[in-house]
Amino acid sequence: MLAPLTRITHATRLAANGSLAHRIHMEGRKDEFRELADAFDTMLARLEAHNAEQQRFAANASHELRTPLAITQTLLDVARNDPRHDNGELVDRLHFVNTRAIDLTEALLLLSRADKRTFTREHVDLSLVAEEATETLLPLAEKHGHTIEASGDITPTTGSRALLLQMTTNLVHNAIVHNQPEQGTIWVTTSRHPKAVVLTVENTGEKLSPQMVSTLVEPFQRGTARIRGNHTGVGLGLAIVKSIAQAHDGTLTLTARPNGGLRATVRLPAAPPHTGG
Ligand SMILES: Nc1ncnc2c1ncn2[C@@H]1O[C@H](COP(=O)(O)OP(=O)(O)OP(=O)(O)O)[C@@H](O)[C@H]1O
Ligand SMILES: [Mg+2]
Repeated sequence: MLAPLTRITHATRLAANGSLAHRIHMEGRKDEFRELADAFDTMLARLEAHNAEQQRFAANASHELRTPLAITQTLLDVARNDPRHDNGELVDRLHFVNTRAIDLTEALLLLSRADKRTFTREHVDLSLVAEEATETLLPLAEKHGHTIEASGDITPTTGSRALLLQMTTNLVHNAIVHNQPEQGTIWVTTSRHPKAVVLTVENTGEKLSPQMVSTLVEPFQRGTARIRGNHTGVGLGLAIVKSIAQAHDGTLTLTARPNGGLRATVRLPAAPPHTGG
């Protein structure tokens, strides 16, 4: 039985050398050593989970980035080995694959930018941002035969207008492309509460299980093939929404709607009252 301080020092050294799996598990009465050891164990658990998440992310991102490059390689190989190949078709397919690779890279850059929290903060009315996102995506909704119902209060908050627009656009875009095949409805609502402003984007669609909904925010998660339909996205849209919400000290909540479809709720701190100037 080692002295408490020795055990804590030992654990610190292990952690400093990169071993995050070790825990002190101090037993005995609740004195200052025990409190320090418990706090240290909690910190290690957090670091270990964060580390695992980062590794998963890097592995998934590498895999996703390799896919379009591998497809490009195959297309080029096939073209080289087929003397009668159709150049026009090759160019079209390369262009398509390349566009996807650019989309993916841009999504990754956006994610790291939001995570770093280095943007400048300004006064933003979330209801105007929602209006802009909705107007921009209206033609896409109409193409699918969907209806968008937008309503809401003035919702003043603080943050990056560009990032909040991106966040709202991702949610409304999802509500259109992951809706039922046609004649669906999308509700975009903003509301103001004493300390928070809330943006809700809801859509009709296929019934989703709560278990499945809980995985959708994970980077590169794309639901089931059946739900995906014709739309194959990058799978970073909701991860970006969550990261932007968190960078604004807010939260993203997803819930399955009882009759099918999804409700996404973003809650952000309300802006402090305007002091003029
Ligand atoms: N509004 C929604 N209604 C139903 N399912 C949804 C909705 N939003 C997201 N999903 C499901 O969650 C998955 C992940 O969404 P996310 O936005 O992260 O990625 P994506 O839309 O597939 O690709 P992209 O990176 O282009 O946005 C989707 O593939 C879809 O299965
Ligand atoms: Mg999406």
